[in-house]
Amino acid sequence: MLSDKTIEIVKSTAPLLALAGTVVTEHFYNRLFSHNPELQDIFNMANQRSGRQQFALFNALAAYAQNIDNLAVLKEALARINHKHTSMHILPEHYPIVGGHLIGTLKELIPEQFTAEVEYAWREAYALLADICITEEAALYEHSKNNHGGWSGTRAFVIAKKQPESELVTSFTLVPVDGKAVMTHKPGQYLGIKVKPAYAQYSEIRQYSISQQSNGENYRISVKKELLPAAGIVSNYLHSLDVGSVVELYPPAGDFFLRANKKPVVLISAGVGQTPMLAMLQTLLCDTSNQAVTYLHACENILQHSFSQFLAEQAAAHTRLNYYTWFNQGGEGAEFTGLMNVSAVAEQLPLEEGDFYICGPTGFMAAIKQQLLVLGVAAERIHYEVFGPHQDL
Ligand SMILES: Cc1cc2nc3c(=O)[nH]c(=O)nc-3n(C[C@H](O)[C@H](O)[C@H](O)COP(=O)(O)OP(=O)(O)OC[C@H]3O[C@@H](n4cnc5c(N)ncnc54)[C@H](O)[C@@H]3O)c2cc1C
Ligand code: HEM
Repeated sequence: MLSDKTIEIVKSTAPLLALAGTVVTEHFYNRLFSHNPELQDIFNMANQRSGRQQFALFNALAAYAQNIDNLAVLKEALARINHKHTSMHILPEHYPIVGGHLIGTLKELIPEQFTAEVEYAWREAYALLADICITEEAALYEHSKNNHGGWSGTRAFVIAKKQPESELVTSFTLVPVDGKAVMTHKPGQYLGIKVKPAYAQYSEIRQYSISQQSNGENYRISVKKELLPAAGIVSNYLHSLDVGSVVELYPPAGDFFLRANKKPVVLISAGVGQTPMLAMLQTLLCDTSNQAVTYLHACENILQHSFSQFLAEQAAAHTRLNYYTWFNQGGEGAEFTGLMNVSAVAEQLPLEEGDFYICGPTGFMAAIKQQLLVLGVAAERIHYEVFGPHQDL
């Protein structure tokens, strides 16, 4: 429990973090990586260069400080962070390191405002947040370890199949080297994958959504080769691997998954954002409840249209599946040309009761969310996943 005094100080000094800006975040990460260079094997250094992750941590801390007397409002955001942390095996001993550099940064950069009293309050508040995270993450680790087919830390998987799905996306079927079962994942969840390309300076961890329903034996991920503005380290490395190569996986994680409420479902994706949708779609179509499903997908053109054959087969086999495609550049193989506009199919959407799942670039997701809100879909029925540090749409 925090004292009233601590709560008051932390709330009143929260703007220090909210206004932190790049000077403070850069100082913090420089300090972190120079004192604890081993953490460069955990953090995505490309996200560091773009600053995306830098702001994610400070924004989360600022939100915590602002809501320190009503932590319930942070439940969803914290759950998302905890899942992401477990996909990289963040451990209790990492928390004091991050906390120490945070306090050190504020002391060094804003000594007038960051008095001894303020420092004491922040140390207490950070310890409480760290405790909450450590407890939640311990529960997730326990679940993964004790589940049938589960494990803890990394586990070696061999690439058993490599299947090109389109110009840029290739699927990899990953089978555990130990030949044992793999734990069930919720449709929509992702895996943390850890690799060390010979040419890379550090080990690299990335998340990839599992692009098939659970089968107890293997996982499939489908990876877009990132070419612009610079070749992405892990995606290009994975594309270069042959069948028989071994990668290391952390257990499935993620809080973006299909709700088990039997309501009509609309799965909306752009580009490689359809990976979690495929796991959801397969799961829904195997279910006997006859739930209605609408699958809306957007991509550039027919060459970039992944899983087109699978989707056409599913639509032909299941009358309860409505499936529409948008090609930005037009051409054969899609019902619509240009950017996706869901109002074109609004009459067929379960606007009043359905759950809407969105995945794709953030600009795409923001536009679709706005369209759905205008059509009257309640915000709490719109769920989305960002393929990077979370952003509010
Ligand atoms: C929950 C989740 C699920 C995901 N699921 C999938 C999935 O199913 N399939 C999938 O393909 N991806 C998925 N991703 C994205 C994936 O984790 C990686 O982020 C992606 O593959 C890029 O990683 P990379 O190592 O190839 O690129 P990185 O090296 O991390 O680079 C990231 C981006 O930065 C750019 N970049 C790199 N260096 C520079 C530089 N010096 N200056 C400017 N820009 C630069 C690259 O072009 C690239 O676009 C998911 C992400 C999350 C968080
Ligand atoms: C209470 C303290 C912490 C808070 C509030 C916090 C917050 C966050 C947030 C908001 C994200 C982005 C989540 C998303 O993807 O949406 C994140 C990601 C991450 N966190 Fe933490 N974190 C904390 C502690 C730690 C610690 C102790 C470590 C380990 C040293 C750590 C390592 C990471 C890494 C590696 C990522 C992913 C970054 C990337 O890939 O760029 N965090 N954290």
